[in-house]
Amino acid sequence: MRMNATLVIGGTGTTGRRVAAGLREQGVAVRVGGRRAPVPFEWTDPATWDRALDGVGAVYVVPLDGATLTGPLVERAVRHGVERVVLLSARGIDAPEFAAADAPLARTHLFGERAVRESGVTWTILRPTWFAQNFSEGFFRDAVRAAEIRLPAGEGAAAFVDAGDIAAVAVAALTGDGHGGQVYELSGPRPLTMAEAAAEIGAATGRDVRYVPVEPDAFVAELVTAGWPPADAADHAAAVAALRDGLDAPVSDGVRRALGRQPRSFAEFVAAADWPG
Ligand SMILES: NC(=O)c1ccc[n+]([C@@H]2O[C@H](COP(=O)([O-])OP(=O)(O)OC[C@H]3O[C@@H](n4cnc5c(N)ncnc54)[C@H](OP(=O)(O)O)[C@@H]3O)[C@@H](O)[C@H]2O)c1
Repeated sequence: MRMNATLVIGGTGTTGRRVAAGLREQGVAVRVGGRRAPVPFEWTDPATWDRALDGVGAVYVVPLDGATLTGPLVERAVRHGVERVVLLSARGIDAPEFAAADAPLARTHLFGERAVRESGVTWTILRPTWFAQNFSEGFFRDAVRAAEIRLPAGEGAAAFVDAGDIAAVAVAALTGDGHGGQVYELSGPRPLTMAEAAAEIGAATGRDVRYVPVEPDAFVAELVTAGWPPADAADHAAAVAALRDGLDAPVSDGVRRALGRQPRSFAEFVAAADWPG
């Protein structure tokens, strides 16, 4: 059995892909945890977990949103000899003004954070605000392609964080010293409204990308019409409500605390991103 590989759960996703790349750059053996990985990992099938955890010394956990499976996974990991866990959570997850504690996303992250804190091994929790890559790879990608970002975000701003910075902090916590027991609140260096973000993307892509504020109920109806399950649509609207209310605007110090440098700016993200055609 080869010890000390790092299992990157969510290793095909926005942060996990970057975490896997960062670890490989440091010569760390990486096992990608995902449904189509060479050693498949399926969150909802715990029978797949043992093979994924075999010979692993550290784990990066991107939880399965809406589920409360991080606890059993962490327990299993510790039984396999894992000594370090880095959990991706989210800003404001324990603050009632952000989300009701029984909302699916809040439950996932609250249960997950509790599980890693109680795991008995070295843990680090990452609490990012909205990812800049939502515009190029995630929730807003199709809207950017359509040049119209429709959201119930009002005039609210977010200090969008670059997924590359989240990954850099995760890699530091998985490989370096001094990150155990830390909760890193992660953001970019300054807040932008959705209109400002759209304008920066438009300028870089040469297209007239517009932000169109919509009412929350209309937004949920649009998502459901587009095929979202109603509960997921409501959850997404609730997450955007925090942005509208200004809760995602504050700049946090996690990137500087963890890495000793400033976070990447939205302009740097825009310049480097691979924009949908
Ligand atoms: N986007 C934001 O602005 C934001 C802000 C704060 C916090 N977050 C949190 O960030 C997390 C998402 O992280 P991310 O953006 O890095 O991931 P992502 O791009 O959403 O990718 C999800 C990953 O999970 C894997 N996955 C999905 N279903 C799975 C299943 N049933 N079994 C095993 N693996 C599964 C996928 O792999 P395969 O498809 O290959 O199986 C993929 O690698 C969420 O918990 C979210 O709450 C997001």
